[in-house]
Amino acid sequence: MSLSIIITGTPGVGKTTLAKLLSKKLGIPYLDFARFALNMGLITGYDAKRASYEVDVTVAREVLSRHAGSQPYVIDSLIPDVLFPHLVKVVIVLRLDPWELALRLKARGWHLNKVRENVEAELLGVSLEEALGFYGDKLVRELNVTGLSVEAAVELLLTIIRGEALERYAPGSVNWLSIYDPIGLSKRISSLFDDDLRV
Ligand SMILES: Nc1ncnc2c1ncn2[C@@H]1O[C@H](COP(=O)(O)OP(=O)(O)OP(=O)(O)O)[C@@H](O)[C@H]1O
Ligand SMILES: [Mg+2]
Repeated sequence: MSLSIIITGTPGVGKTTLAKLLSKKLGIPYLDFARFALNMGLITGYDAKRASYEVDVTVAREVLSRHAGSQPYVIDSLIPDVLFPHLVKVVIVLRLDPWELALRLKARGWHLNKVRENVEAELLGVSLEEALGFYGDKLVRELNVTGLSVEAAVELLLTIIRGEALERYAPGSVNWLSIYDPIGLSKRISSLFDDDLRV
């Protein structure tokens, strides 16, 4: 049985950067789920408000599971539940300090509402919840990459994949709500954009 690794998390946390390097280190091919869905004709619509494609995950999961049935991949995906659990070695949810994330997303040129929406998702741990809802806590780990270099973060991903120090990366180990007050953070993010209005 081929067992793939899923790297997931809020937009901007570093999925693509880390999954590509991890794939090189492990010698396991990298698979970008969004591109796969596009190439396989699995896109069902376009959400103009979010500027993102929509997929029917139930169908996409069937197709990807066939694809990954005999060949493992390092899968980079915003949606965690893209593969049947029996084909998954581990799902790693990357977590990034919400304020760091806000700065990163703003630097990408994203507008205030899109930044706020994604930071809120990170604050609440939406990706983690989705991953846990489908795979359960035995297959899901979370890694806080805040302040880590890409190299250091990949080393920790390798530690998790080897099955070491699993307690440290257990779901629930990251809790941004113990650090941030959601309303205060939202105001702080808005003020980041005030400067744009003045120029
Ligand atoms: N550990 C890190 N330290 C510093 N910068 C990083 C780190 N990881 C990623 N970055 C930077 O953060 C930005 C977002 O990274 P990346 O594109 O990999 O995120 P993503 O999760 O794949 O985003 P998306 O969901 O939108 O595809 C990039 O500019 C990348 O260079
Ligand atoms: Mg990406």
